[in-house]
Amino acid sequence: MKRKDFLKISASAAIFLGISPKAMANPDNNLDYLNNDYKNDGSCFGLKHESISKVKVGIIGLGNRGSVLIQMFDYLIKHNLSEIVALCDLNDDSINKNLKYLKTIQEHTPEVYRGSVDSWKELVKRDDIDLVIVATPWDTHTEMCISSMQNDKHVACEVPIANNLEDCWKIIEVAESTKKHCMMMENCCFNNEELWLLSMIDKGVFGNVNHAEGAYIHDLRKHMLDDSYYHNQWRIKHHQTRNGNLYPTHGLGPVCSYMDIGRGDNFNHLVSMSSNEESLSIASKSIDSDFKKFSCGDMNTTLIKTNLGKTIKLQFDVHTGRPYTRLNNVNGTKASHQGYPSKLFINNPELQWGHSWLNKEEYKKYRDLYNHPLWDKMENEISKNQVGHGGMDFVMIYRIIRCLNKGLPLDINVYDSVMWSSIIPFSEMSVLNQSKTIKIPDFTGGSWKNSRKSELLRVI
Ligand SMILES: NC(=O)c1ccc[n+]([C@@H]2O[C@H](COP(=O)([O-])OP(=O)(O)OC[C@H]3O[C@@H](n4cnc5c(N)ncnc54)[C@H](O)[C@@H]3O)[C@@H](O)[C@H]2O)c1
Repeated sequence: MKRKDFLKISASAAIFLGISPKAMANPDNNLDYLNNDYKNDGSCFGLKHESISKVKVGIIGLGNRGSVLIQMFDYLIKHNLSEIVALCDLNDDSINKNLKYLKTIQEHTPEVYRGSVDSWKELVKRDDIDLVIVATPWDTHTEMCISSMQNDKHVACEVPIANNLEDCWKIIEVAESTKKHCMMMENCCFNNEELWLLSMIDKGVFGNVNHAEGAYIHDLRKHMLDDSYYHNQWRIKHHQTRNGNLYPTHGLGPVCSYMDIGRGDNFNHLVSMSSNEESLSIASKSIDSDFKKFSCGDMNTTLIKTNLGKTIKLQFDVHTGRPYTRLNNVNGTKASHQGYPSKLFINNPELQWGHSWLNKEEYKKYRDLYNHPLWDKMENEISKNQVGHGGMDFVMIYRIIRCLNKGLPLDINVYDSVMWSSIIPFSEMSVLNQSKTIKIPDFTGGSWKNSRKSELLRVI
């Protein structure tokens, strides 16, 4: 990408940043945030590259997440499909632990980058890396992705890929100008239940899906307040100053694949509302933590309307004590699903449509008939890789590497990654402005109008 062009987008983004969220969010007064000097063209849809027989990987960030992701490479390394050539982290213990693990599955010892917050910049400059994997705290993601692409690398980044609107546009601009793959690793899209639902929707079992609900409801109080779980307690700091849906993609990614977002439909606008904050403060007080005041409400609820009139309910709560759920509720004209635990309803006119979920035997018939072939094919390996969220992390890493091996487009493209992450700043804008309607810009350069199947449905 030409530096001149990059400066242009940075300058326009600075203008955007100069507008207070209050003004930006007020559709009656100011829609400037929708204007962007850079005209995205959608050219990264269906992006393909030469096949890479053995994908050389560099990993930045070896904390909780990076240490799990690295274990997902066992099968790929043993089958000579990938190799980890470089690692980077700030923490020596994390590096040593992962080096020790890699020794058990790979002959070559990777080069290590450490010592400073900028050491990763040397890793992305190497000329023997095909793919950079980013598993660091949120604030670092955009810069690491952009720099990887500018250094001619494909990049796969942990969720979310961007935290503000400026970064959303920057990533798209760099991806389109460098034509490198840039994928947000939204692992829930690769989970068995979600892929089974996607297969059923694709085969018409649900009719038209007009409403779906996703969430990230996960009691993280213990981890966020623990001074050794997250690096420098980075996560709880976001909750001190921000209020909205700070982690939308686990619930939203799968819903977008059910609804063909970016592949025939697109987000149009949203409204967002946060409850009081209380639960995290109570937990913090109970252990006399230094973190005392929080902006983020206990529960954020965001409603998104699509261009074709569909609705999505998205929730975010990591403060309140209760069992984990991503909801995974899907309502179609012919069937409905509710998650946690999974239940299926099939419209049956003979029973005057009925009110009951399918019984165990009927449910199992659908489960077996529509299981995503990828989960059938990889069943053995998945059973050995349960540590990665019951297998979905393995399926995701397997797919990324196999797509690169075969020169195929990745399952999640840069537009998906940005659209799903953009709910963070837009929900914050709405919450700040008494839940005002926020228009969502078209990140796809008009390409959303082309109907096509989700890449997740391919069997490779
Ligand atoms: N998809 C999932 O299921 C899932 C699960 C957990 C975490 N995550 C995501 O993974 C990311 C990391 O989360 P985590 O729980 O592993 O956090 P963490 O704090 O455990 O790990 C982050 C690591 O990044 C390293 N790091 C920080 N700045 C760095 C820099 N400049 N250069 C090199 N290394 C640096 C830290 O030393 C640390 O080891 C986050 O984006 C989080 O949202 C995703």
